[in-house]
Amino acid sequence: MLHSNLSVNSAGHLVIGKSDAVELALKYGTPLYVVDEERVRENCRSYVDAVKRYLAPGSEVLYADKALCCAAILKTVMQEGLSADVVSAGELYTALRVGFPAEKLYFHGNSKPENEIVYAIDAGVGHFVVDSAEELEAIDRFAARKKVRQKIFLRITPDIDTHTHKKIATGTVDCKFGTPIVTGQAEEFVRRALSKKNVELDGLHCHVGSQIFTAGPYIDCAKVMFDFIGEMYAKTGFLPKYLDLGGGFGVRYVESDPVISYGDLIRKIGEECSRICMEKGIPVPALLLEPGRSIVGDAGITVYTVTGVKEIPHHTNYVAVDGGMTDNPRYTLYGAEHTMLLANKAKLQADYRCTVAGRCCESGDLLGENIALQKPVKGDMLTVLSTGAYNYSMASNYNRVPRPAMITVKNGEDRLAVRRESYEDLLALDIL
Ligand code: LLP
Repeated sequence: MLHSNLSVNSAGHLVIGKSDAVELALKYGTPLYVVDEERVRENCRSYVDAVKRYLAPGSEVLYADKALCCAAILKTVMQEGLSADVVSAGELYTALRVGFPAEKLYFHGNSKPENEIVYAIDAGVGHFVVDSAEELEAIDRFAARKKVRQKIFLRITPDIDTHTHKKIATGTVDCKFGTPIVTGQAEEFVRRALSKKNVELDGLHCHVGSQIFTAGPYIDCAKVMFDFIGEMYAKTGFLPKYLDLGGGFGVRYVESDPVISYGDLIRKIGEECSRICMEKGIPVPALLLEPGRSIVGDAGITVYTVTGVKEIPHHTNYVAVDGGMTDNPRYTLYGAEHTMLLANKAKLQADYRCTVAGRCCESGDLLGENIALQKPVKGDMLTVLSTGAYNYSMASNYNRVPRPAMITVKNGEDRLAVRRESYEDLLALDIL
């Protein structure tokens, strides 16, 4: 199996954690997001342990909750001692509602509306990760009004190309996020932040992209950032307390994706950062990491019901399911691959080649092409693996399809985390 928390029981059914996926689908209906809580906790612990062991004191793990933001998951991550990266007032509100201390929250985003800036300052958010000069001015102004000194990081673009999918690469100079070093704008940004009375420049932030399986891009990024830090120290005397290297560690979607140890990657990154700082004669800052996908990605599966099989002679076999781009837009958006199987036939040979079609009125609504499945018939429970990240969080109501329920499983017990949307929910905001 793709992940060690998945197995097949004697009935030939897919098992996640200790729960039979077919029984869960019968109990809660489909489509159904299932999240293995124990796996989320293990992922959190592997980060927290490695950060404690290999990085400078004060280093921290922030859960990038854009990957999966709902009360149950945020509570779990909070209990494991992580801080959180929130990217909107909505995510901030959710984190506060589940009891996250405001000072453990880092407010990201390249285009924060002013009302959200005010909301975050009023809520006492720990840090802003400031993206632009306009945002800096606004934070300074609103912090003055509130009579607080707001802690901030500046988001810097290091110009690193991770060769990941264009839509999830964020580190190159020509990018909507952050302020580039090579154009001289980052230096100007730091000087401007240092001149503001109502903000405290605590650190620098960078994020090079997602779905990265090696330490190389992080180390390349750290080198560029430490060059910049060294230069700024010489010119202004500013030394950041924190360097935030962003998120992006990869998750296995298909067998050909490598198995990686987050602990090993963190060790390599930590060692290299210490070496570079020693060479430059600057103190090693506390390092922050912002994993999203690698905390929840392999903990989730989505179970669908096959609604029909359409075989077009000399062309394609289409297997249609009762969900699609409304609950998982990743194939439609990025051509992202996921492993699939029939949860009720998991022991059988997977030699049926097909395209898995979603239910939306849109030819591009596919979950995958050239997928190897067990021979499907209507009523089978097609299951997509590694859907914990960026599925629920990117779900929509296109075609007025209600969003699926999400359940968590732990020690063979299941619990509803997000109830299925009803038709009435779909109308809840309409003025009738
Ligand atoms: N920090 C920052 C500043 C980010 O922009 C992101 C992701 C992360 C951390 C977390 O990255 P992760 O560890 O999850 O890779 N919807 C896309 C992914 C978009 C990622 C956006 N930023 C997908 O489904 O692949």
